[in-house]
Amino acid sequence: MGLVTGACLADLGNDVTCVDIDEAKVARLNAGQIPIYEPGLEEVVGRNVRAGRLHFTSSYASAVPPAQFIYIAVNTPAGQAGEADMSQARSATQSIAQHLSPDAIIINKSTMPIGTGDWVTMMVGRYVEGRVPFHVVSNPEFLREGSAIVDFMNPDRVVLGSTDPEAAKIVAELYVPLNAPIMITDLRTAEMIKYASNAFLATKISFINEMAAICERLGADVKEVARGMGLDKRVGPAFLEAGVGYGGSCFPKDIMALAHMAAVHGCHPQLLRAVMDINHDARRSVLIKIREGLGSLEDRRIGVLGLAFKPNTDDLREAPALEIIHLLVQEGAHVQAFDPAAMEMAQRMLPSVHMCSDAYEVAEGAHALILMTDWNEFKSLNMRRLKDSMLYPLLIDGRNIYDPQEMAALGFHYRGMGRGYDTAQSSNGNGAASADVVEASRSIRV
Ligand code: UDX
Repeated sequence: MGLVTGACLADLGNDVTCVDIDEAKVARLNAGQIPIYEPGLEEVVGRNVRAGRLHFTSSYASAVPPAQFIYIAVNTPAGQAGEADMSQARSATQSIAQHLSPDAIIINKSTMPIGTGDWVTMMVGRYVEGRVPFHVVSNPEFLREGSAIVDFMNPDRVVLGSTDPEAAKIVAELYVPLNAPIMITDLRTAEMIKYASNAFLATKISFINEMAAICERLGADVKEVARGMGLDKRVGPAFLEAGVGYGGSCFPKDIMALAHMAAVHGCHPQLLRAVMDINHDARRSVLIKIREGLGSLEDRRIGVLGLAFKPNTDDLREAPALEIIHLLVQEGAHVQAFDPAAMEMAQRMLPSVHMCSDAYEVAEGAHALILMTDWNEFKSLNMRRLKDSMLYPLLIDGRNIYDPQEMAALGFHYRGMGRGYDTAQSSNGNGAASADVVEASRSIRV
């Protein structure tokens, strides 16, 4: 998020210096290497470095003093009790305070607990002791991984919160070229807007996943249900895709942090808790479908298509695939997997998994194939070829990207997420398939 923000602000014509305490990362960036997979980022970074508007350093002492705007974009990962871990924010704030020039505006870009703006004001104020006037503005970022550049340049809105509306107006000037509505409010409200937005989107996902679980048992197709619901303008079609649940670096930790904040302030966040609970159930339902289809997983060979928490990123943080693979391995399965971007990192986290060179290798000799990430390239695979190389044709479509009827016609035992049709079609979901599987697995040595 920091690199995208820095590069995009440079693209808007500003002179930007990105600071990271990881000297190796800074060295890679200075050598033109982008440390993450994010479509379009390399181009924007390269263009602005060449134009002399974008720089990288590990030195607060050189970056902070000349800066009029100082963005804090550090990570706020989940802490032990579900709270947001503020250690990186604390050390960044302290380093900024040591080098601040008068009238600089410190801008909180990371998702930070409600009250962080006041906390930063207090921390910096304590250090500068009135010698250096400064301002603090909350400017939550709403970009998504995989479409971060496009999202930054085309925001639905820009939210700015400050105890000093004049400072917020100065920051607003930076975003005028984006032609988006700019909302100025107070610090805590701006911070809450970010949490509430993420919580609402996660709620939509868990809502549709709960509908999916019901559809599955009652013979309805959740994809069609979502389409029918989404046509109602009050509902809208976005974030109604049922599947293996949300993952990533934001939703899981932010919903947990908001629930934690609510609980330690005397609220009972029962909806947020249900959202998290349903999300876990969505993941586990994959395991249940596999067991229903194969019986015991001991020595079964399972192919996994997609590891990243969503397409167009190599990010594995809270990726549903990691948990599912862990559980499959625990139950004795042998897992082979492919992801277009996330395999290098995944191999380090999952040493027992055989990483394949493509989707077709994943299917070879497999008793079941699980689609975990809806990468575009998985939508146009030669499904007949996949099926023919499998030992047993169980297909778990964790993102509902395939057509149940087409898959059944090809001979797959298709199981989507909340697609009652497939359950109604192949009533061998409760273990009748196991006999065939035993038969099929006689011919494979695992
Ligand atoms: C999210 C927010 O969208 C963004 O505004 C915020 O700044 C950061 O967190 P991101 O985590 O990059 O962005 O991805 P997003 O596209 O929102 O997807 C999050 C997760 O929800 C993914 O695992 C995705 O697969 C899942 N999802 C999304 C669904 O399961 N169903 C949907 O309909 C939409």
